[in-house]
Amino acid sequence: MRPDLPPTHWPTAAEAARGQLLTPLRVGSFESRTRGWVPAMVPWRATEEGFVTPQVLEWYGRFAEGWPGVLVVEATGVRDVPSGPLLRIGDDRFLPGLRQLVETVRERSGGRTRLVIQVLDFLRIRRRPEPAAYFGRFLELDEGHRARLATLRPELADGDETTLRTALLGLERPELEQVLSARELEDLDMGARERVTDVHLPHVAGLPAELPPLFAAAARRAREAGFDGLELHMAHAYTLAGFLSRRNTREDGYGGDLAGRQRLPLEVIDAVRREVGSDWTVGCRLLGDEVIGGGSRIEDAVAHSVRFAEAGLDFVSVSKGGKFEDARQPGIGQAAYPYTGPSGHECMPTVRIEGGPFGRNLHLSRSIRDALRAAGHGTPVVGAGGLATWEQAERALEEGDCDLVGAARQSLADPDWWRKVELGHGEAVRRCVFTNYCEGLDQKHKQVTCQLWDRDTEVPDRSGDTSLSHDGRRRLLAPPWDA
Ligand SMILES: Cc1cc2nc3c(=O)[nH]c(=O)nc-3n(C[C@H](O)[C@H](O)[C@H](O)COP(=O)(O)O)c2cc1C
Ligand code: SF4
Repeated sequence: MRPDLPPTHWPTAAEAARGQLLTPLRVGSFESRTRGWVPAMVPWRATEEGFVTPQVLEWYGRFAEGWPGVLVVEATGVRDVPSGPLLRIGDDRFLPGLRQLVETVRERSGGRTRLVIQVLDFLRIRRRPEPAAYFGRFLELDEGHRARLATLRPELADGDETTLRTALLGLERPELEQVLSARELEDLDMGARERVTDVHLPHVAGLPAELPPLFAAAARRAREAGFDGLELHMAHAYTLAGFLSRRNTREDGYGGDLAGRQRLPLEVIDAVRREVGSDWTVGCRLLGDEVIGGGSRIEDAVAHSVRFAEAGLDFVSVSKGGKFEDARQPGIGQAAYPYTGPSGHECMPTVRIEGGPFGRNLHLSRSIRDALRAAGHGTPVVGAGGLATWEQAERALEEGDCDLVGAARQSLADPDWWRKVELGHGEAVRRCVFTNYCEGLDQKHKQVTCQLWDRDTEVPDRSGDTSLSHDGRRRLLAPPWDA
C-alpha cells in the first residue's frame, strides 16, 4: 500500500512512442534522444581526493542502462582543494577518470544518453564548535566585547584575555546575546559559514577575479574528457547562487541590483564560452525561488534566465530552495546541511510536505520558460520536483511547464524507469516513495542508496564481482532489470 503516491496508468510501448517524453530535443550542440533528464545527485563515491572510482563508474553506468535522454553528473568541484568524496575537476590529473566515466555512460546506454557534468564552487563552512573551543580560540575578541561584557560584569573591565574568554563561556544565553553580534552567535550555534558578502575576507573579496578562470578551466577539462555539456551550478547554497541572491548586498559592483548580482555569473559564462567556444553545450542550474526571507523570488529567476540565455547559455535547469540560512541547527561537531530547513524541504520535497511533492515546482519552470519564449529564446528548460510518472511527464510537456522532465529520486529508486516506460513495462517501475531515506544518507556524507533496493542479495556485477554492487550488508546499486 502506497496511499501517498498518485495513481498512474503506464503506457503501452505504442502509446509511449506517440507521447512527448520520447521525442528528441536539441540542447545546444547536442540532441537529447528523449525529454528524460536525470538531475545531479551526489552519491559520495569518489575518493577523498575527488577522483573517479570504480564505484562512481558503476553508479553512473547503472543510470545509463535506464536510457535517460540526459544524465547530469553530481556537483563537481572546480577548485583543486580537498572536499571529501566529492568529484573534482580542478586539475588535469582528474581527466583520465572523467574520461572513463564518459566512456562508461556511452557504452552502458548504447550511445542513447548524453552526459553533462555539474560544476560548482562553494565557500567554507565550519562544524558547530564546542562552546569551550569557540570562546577559547575561535572568537576574535575585541574592545567591543570587553566594553559590553563590562556593563554586565564591571569587575572584568580590566581583565586579561583569558579571564574575558572564561567569563564569556560562563554567561547565560540572554547575557551572551548582549555581548556577541548576531553573526558571532550564529558562528557559535551553527558553525562559522562564509558568505559572498564577507568582503573583509580577501579570498571572498577576490572571488570575481578568481572564479571565471577556475570555471573556464573546468569547462575545458569537461570538454576534453568527452562530456556532452556542462551545467554551471548556480543553485542551492553555493557560491554563484550567493551572488545571484537578493541577499547579496556587495557594494563592489558584484551585488545589489539585478545587474550587479548577475555580473559575476555572466563573467563566468563569458570566460567559459571563450575557453570552450560556442559549439559545446553550456547551461546552468538556478533557483526559481530561494524560499528564505529576503531571498530571490521567481521574478529574479526569470530575469537571470533571460539574461543568461542572451549571454549564450543553452539550457536552464530549475530547482528551488536548499539554503543554509534556514538550516536546522547541527549537533556539536557537525556541519549545517542546507536541506534541513523549510527551503531544503522545498528542494527535495517529501510526501509529508503540505500539498505533496508531485510537480510542486513546475510553476517556476513554467514562468521561466514563458519569459524565455516571450524574449525570443528557444532555450530548453528543465523542470524537477516530484516528477515520477508518465502522466506527469506528458502533462508537463504538453502544457509547456518545461521542455525536459527532471526526475532525480525516481531515477535513483529505479534507473530503468525511463526504459521501462519506453518498452511498455511501466508496471515494473519501482516507484519512489518520496520519504528521503537517500537524502538522509547524503546528509551524513554516506554512500547514497535507496530504501527500496533489497538489502540481502549479493548480485554479481557484469564481471562477476559483488563488491561494487554490495558492501556485504546492503546493495550499493539498483537491482538489475531483465527486460
Ligand atoms: C541524494 C541527493 C543528492 C543530490 N545532489 C544534488 C547535486 O549534487 N546537485 C544538485 O543540483 N541537486 C542535487 N540534488 C537535488 C536533485 O537534483 C533534485 O533537484 C531534487 O531531488 C528534486 O527532484 P526530485 O523530486 O526529482 O528528486 C540531490 C538530491 C538527492 C536526493
Ligand atoms: S530512498 Fe526513498 S526518496 Fe530516495 S529514491 Fe529511494 S524511495 Fe525515493
